Amino acid sequence: MILVNFQIRLLKAFNYSPIKFQKYNRRYYSLLTSRVAQEKILEDVSSTNPGPPKLNSIDLSDAEDLWAGNMHGFDWELEKARRKVFGMSTAYSPFRMDYWKPLTEDGQEEKNVSVLDSLYIMTTNILQFFFGMQSIDGAPVAEIQPFTGTFSNFVAKAMTGNLEELAGGPLFLMLEKYYKKYGAVFKLAFGPRSFIVISNPVMAKHILRKNPLFYDKGVLADILEEIMGKGLIPADPATWKVRRKAIVPGFHARWLNRMIQLFAECNLELCSVLDAAAQRNQKVEMESLFCSVSLDIIGRAVFNYEFGSVTKESPVVKSVYSCLREAERRSTSFVPYWKIPIVKDVLDTQKEFKANMKVLNDILDELILLAHKTAVKAEVEELELREPTEDPSLLRFLVDMRGENATSKQLRDDLMTMLIAGHETTAAVLTWSLFNLVQKPKILQEVREEIQHVLGDRLPTYEDLPKLKLLRYVLAEALRLYPEPPLLIRRALEDDYLPSGGTGLNIKLSKGTDVFISTWNLHRSPEYWEKPEEFDPHRWERPFNNPAVEGWEGYKPEIMNGLYPSEIPSDFAFLPFGGGSRKCVGDQFAMMESCVTLAILLRRYDFQFVDSPEHVGIKTGATIHTANGMNMYVKNMVLQAPETMPSI
Ligand code: HEM
Repeated sequence: MILVNFQIRLLKAFNYSPIKFQKYNRRYYSLLTSRVAQEKILEDVSSTNPGPPKLNSIDLSDAEDLWAGNMHGFDWELEKARRKVFGMSTAYSPFRMDYWKPLTEDGQEEKNVSVLDSLYIMTTNILQFFFGMQSIDGAPVAEIQPFTGTFSNFVAKAMTGNLEELAGGPLFLMLEKYYKKYGAVFKLAFGPRSFIVISNPVMAKHILRKNPLFYDKGVLADILEEIMGKGLIPADPATWKVRRKAIVPGFHARWLNRMIQLFAECNLELCSVLDAAAQRNQKVEMESLFCSVSLDIIGRAVFNYEFGSVTKESPVVKSVYSCLREAERRSTSFVPYWKIPIVKDVLDTQKEFKANMKVLNDILDELILLAHKTAVKAEVEELELREPTEDPSLLRFLVDMRGENATSKQLRDDLMTMLIAGHETTAAVLTWSLFNLVQKPKILQEVREEIQHVLGDRLPTYEDLPKLKLLRYVLAEALRLYPEPPLLIRRALEDDYLPSGGTGLNIKLSKGTDVFISTWNLHRSPEYWEKPEEFDPHRWERPFNNPAVEGWEGYKPEIMNGLYPSEIPSDFAFLPFGGGSRKCVGDQFAMMESCVTLAILLRRYDFQFVDSPEHVGIKTGATIHTANGMNMYVKNMVLQAPETMPSI
């Protein structure tokens, strides 16, 4: 413990001399905290067991290893030697110097934003707002509507993350208002803290397609750290490079083909619930049913776990939702209340969150352990050709992949990330597709005819999906009107200059600048879409251009390639799954899942709103939810024959 205490002091000392030791500290701190946590556990154990274990005998095989994926080259040789000397299994040394830091794969050094970079931006904001100095970024400043409540009310709302009430409505709607007033790029400032908000495809393309080492996930990574750790979504560029390379092969065509069967199986469970409701003329809440079916699907697809949430309520499912809600609360909070020690230990919501995270982590740890015990290693190519077994999960693939040595902690972060990323997003697309279709009976009829024509009385197969064109356009149209998430978040890791994109502005993003790309604004702007507020799936067949947006190629349906009109044919005006290197890894999976679900449901049932569509309402979260649920009556359609299961 003396050694650890000394290290903490050393660390603290370094924190106060930011320039020289900053990079060193960040890496060292993450190692030390995991080390300190293990020390604490050992201390507890030793109070009942005489003779505490020696520091070097601690098994750190599960601790995060910052060298994973970089185990080559001169630096690694030095690191290996050091580990031998200390007899340890993971990177840990108070004497480690900067030159021992692993380089990223292409030999570039990882870029970090320092406190000084953030202070610089804040100071220039203060000088601009209070002393009239020229702005360093060149963006117009949005004047935020003043909060009209009392100070204590403000603090309470800020602490509990009630940004919607503070801002007078969902954040993305507030940004839409400012977009209409200030244009496609503006600065949103909360005191000296600021965000540059972008609603221009040329600028979005520049940021998303730029070398991924130029931008990271900034505030999003802070918010999601406790939940997703170093999973792909919040991962820093160096971790991301290694993990993305490992995960992408898991989504191979044969696996996706196998997943179609899984989608159908899970949806037939949903049908049994809808059949029962139809018989009793009972209303159903479709948003939560879509959430349940997509949770069941993602559980089985990613780690072969049966949540069974369509048919029953379980404590595990409750834990998933509780963690999701906390992630959402955090993402809409001004103040990182979860980092304040007292709040963290006193607030009931935080204590509950901790307990729920433990439930989920324990399950994931158990599944990972089991997968390791039953691993049969093979090359990626062999794995892709393996017959779909009882466990076709991504976890199985990642553990069996030869040369893939992620720690259990990293695997858990990856699985948790996919559980969260691939669940409510898909449910939201299904919800908003149905919401719009039911209000457009003519389009609904066309879609049903397409489904009948392509499938007849079969369940969908992999080969059917390209033929269900209008159905896929319906999904794309729902994603345009309700992008999930409605904002993409980035932080500049280097000074960068944005192309003007027809705005006439020369925007500089200084290192450390936080950026929001508003997909909500991009997708609903009359600058990039004809009648943007209208739900019109046929729009994807018509080209659109606007020469006023300098450097934008417009929407070109003829270059659409794949299951949905992506960022490419729209030249980054449509970003349903993001764009560039950090684009969604689950896009094909999600489109296929949504297609299969809607094809099955629309063929079997007729849906009617219980109340008016206006009553459904919208509210902000990580995804766009309904405000009051989507209550509907379902009626069985007359089927010529029940569907047969596809053979794979
Ligand atoms: C309709 C459903 C989905 C939507 C709308 C969606 C949307 C997105 C978007 C917009 C991004 C980019 C975020 C950014 O640039 O900051 C993203 C990233 C990601 N998504 Fe999805 N997603 C969906 C389904 C899924 C599924 C099913 C999975 C996994 C099975 C998944 C896993 C991920 C992961 C891991 C990333 C991070 C990729 C990276 O940074 O390399 N998503 N998603």
